[in-house]
Amino acid sequence: MCKKILITGAKGMLGTVLCPFFEKYNILAIDKDNGDITTKNSLAGVIGGFDFDAVVHCAAYTNVDKAEDKPEHAFIINKDGTANVIDCLKNKDCLFIYISTDYVFDGEKKSLYTEEDTPNPLSVYAKSKLEGEKIAAKIDKHVIIRTSWLFGPKGRNFVSTIAQLAKEKKELKVVDDQAGSPTYTLDLAKAIADIVEIYFTKGIKPGIYNVTNTGFCTWFELASYIIKEAGFKTALIPIKSEQSGRKAKRPKNSRLSKEKFKGLSGYYLPGWQDAVSDYLENYVFKEKG
Ligand SMILES: NC(=O)c1ccc[n+]([C@@H]2O[C@H](COP(=O)([O-])OP(=O)(O)OC[C@H]3O[C@@H](n4cnc5c(N)ncnc54)[C@H](OP(=O)(O)O)[C@@H]3O)[C@@H](O)[C@H]2O)c1
Repeated sequence: MCKKILITGAKGMLGTVLCPFFEKYNILAIDKDNGDITTKNSLAGVIGGFDFDAVVHCAAYTNVDKAEDKPEHAFIINKDGTANVIDCLKNKDCLFIYISTDYVFDGEKKSLYTEEDTPNPLSVYAKSKLEGEKIAAKIDKHVIIRTSWLFGPKGRNFVSTIAQLAKEKKELKVVDDQAGSPTYTLDLAKAIADIVEIYFTKGIKPGIYNVTNTGFCTWFELASYIIKEAGFKTALIPIKSEQSGRKAKRPKNSRLSKEKFKGLSGYYLPGWQDAVSDYLENYVFKEKG
């Protein structure tokens, strides 16, 4: 029988590109308009009647800076919303994939973070995502995917914003003291689909898996690459996090080791430079003509 998959946050940056990867399955794709995860009764009416084989929970409050002023919003969606999705599942013996973040770490570690490292989130957003992780981990067959610095076809993101600003401005200031891995939603979506496939065919050890594109950079290095690829002459000025005016604190080091995912899937995701080039060529500049 055709497997049934629930995807939450299906209209978001990741959810939008994720759905097509599951076309061979029977998908229920929900978002705020047809499955608000904060209203348990109506959510139960939408998802409670189905026996899902796997759930990919992408829905989240993702505005990292605004969350500092609205902590209750972040927790109601990222923590309580996750609990609601799980509570409403008829079959709790399904695979439950929770999409989490590199921001659960404080960035003090000098080397790469592994799945065994202890989180110590610096921001409200990251704290609420970590609480969501703890709830997801109560499901027997859970997979928590920690990813980072997403960019992709739907919605605003750092790569599309820099490409746009670089066109308009002579000079841009970008932080150079935070290092991580930019991650292309299309590559991440394929990895998530592969994880589901592995679960269906061989089974999977529950737990945390770091999944990002390969390689590391700072936001400044990422912006430099975008400007070079786009052929703009914009001057880039490196600044420190404290000078950025961003409300939420972010980890200086959120470089994640991907060895565990490689052990599971047999591959690393493409390098971040190739991913950024593909995105610029096929989405950012193509759309603008
Ligand atoms: N973006 C990143 O750089 C990044 C990095 C690491 C991890 N992640 C995680 O990856 C996942 C996907 O992120 P994303 O960038 O695709 O985020 P996104 O574009 O903000 O997508 C999240 C989706 O969830 C929806 N949503 C919000 N509140 C909801 C509610 N109460 N009920 C149902 N749906 C609701 C959002 O709708 P509205 O847009 O209408 O609010 C949106 O469509 C999230 O779990 C995020 O925490 C993201």
